[in-house]
Amino acid sequence: MRIAILTGGGDCPGLNAAIRAIVKKGIKVYQDRIFGYHNGWAGPINDDIGEIALSDVSGLLPRGGTILGTSRTNPFKIDNGLNIIKGNMEKHEIDVLVAIGGEDTLGVAAKLAREGVKIIGIPKTIDNDLTGTVYTFGFDTAVSIITEAIDRLHTTAESHQRVMVLEVMGRHAGWLAVTGGIAGGADLILVPEEEFNIDDVCQSLKNRHEKGKTFSIVVVAEGARSRDKDGLVTIDKSRDAFGHVKLGGIGHELGKRIEERTGFETRVTVLGHVQRGGTPTAFDRVLATRYGIGAIDGAHNNQLGKMVSLRGNRITYVSLNTVTRGLKTIDSELLDIAKVFFE
Ligand code: F6P
Repeated sequence: MRIAILTGGGDCPGLNAAIRAIVKKGIKVYQDRIFGYHNGWAGPINDDIGEIALSDVSGLLPRGGTILGTSRTNPFKIDNGLNIIKGNMEKHEIDVLVAIGGEDTLGVAAKLAREGVKIIGIPKTIDNDLTGTVYTFGFDTAVSIITEAIDRLHTTAESHQRVMVLEVMGRHAGWLAVTGGIAGGADLILVPEEEFNIDDVCQSLKNRHEKGKTFSIVVVAEGARSRDKDGLVTIDKSRDAFGHVKLGGIGHELGKRIEERTGFETRVTVLGHVQRGGTPTAFDRVLATRYGIGAIDGAHNNQLGKMVSLRGNRITYVSLNTVTRGLKTIDSELLDIAKVFFE
């Protein structure tokens, strides 16, 4: 078979591990020829493709980012995008396209599958908000980075008796904030799923300090909203090809309001793209490898139009349409656990 791979949307640790797994099993076991489209959906649109040899994936397992490059190109925003992709795939006689991405990339994949394109999806995003799978790879690595950041903030918060606000990613879902927050022992965690009330936030910090604590750590997801303010806090007004605004700034806004209302000296850290960079954890390396193997096996076992998914501890396949049924927000059970430690 002739298999092509693309990586779309925000990058994350584990993408290269998944590519490596597809290439290794495809060439060694199935005698496939494997190709890579460059820069997400821009690749099949611009016919930007290259063959991947076994030697190209050597040493790739621990490397962050993606050797194929990525973009937020939306082929359905491009004139005749669907037919251009079909034509370019035919030109190179691509039998199956493996699309590795989050809600946007796999949303496009689902649409293409409905239009007859032979495609398999692999779920990735540090946000872990994709419906149809328990975990996306990239998430565990980002949680480890958040946990380490909170550990580091603890010691300086304690020394200076300060409130430390940590802004983390998480556009629509608070998986990163709540999981990293629990792991790091955050004193307050604010997520997109529950609007927060600034009076409650300040009261909770005051309660803590009245009980003798001299510092606090607040983790806030970039997509969290305050009940008394309209909309999300964004960097500017621009939108990408999928209509997303650039989130960012809630941490600074929150820090300012906390300091004004409580009088506690407050500092803000925005973790940003540090969460998406660098080497994947062991968990993400293994998960990405299992997904890659699942995708190449699926290409040979008629799992077209499906996404590789983790259910319990087993790799399985779900329809790509699953990802278009809305995002997977956090379990209230997890948030309840986090709340046990708030004051
Ligand atoms: O898609 C995951 C994500 O990490 C979001 O949490 C975040 O809002 C977005 O990517 C930022 O992406 P970029 O700045 O790379 O466009």
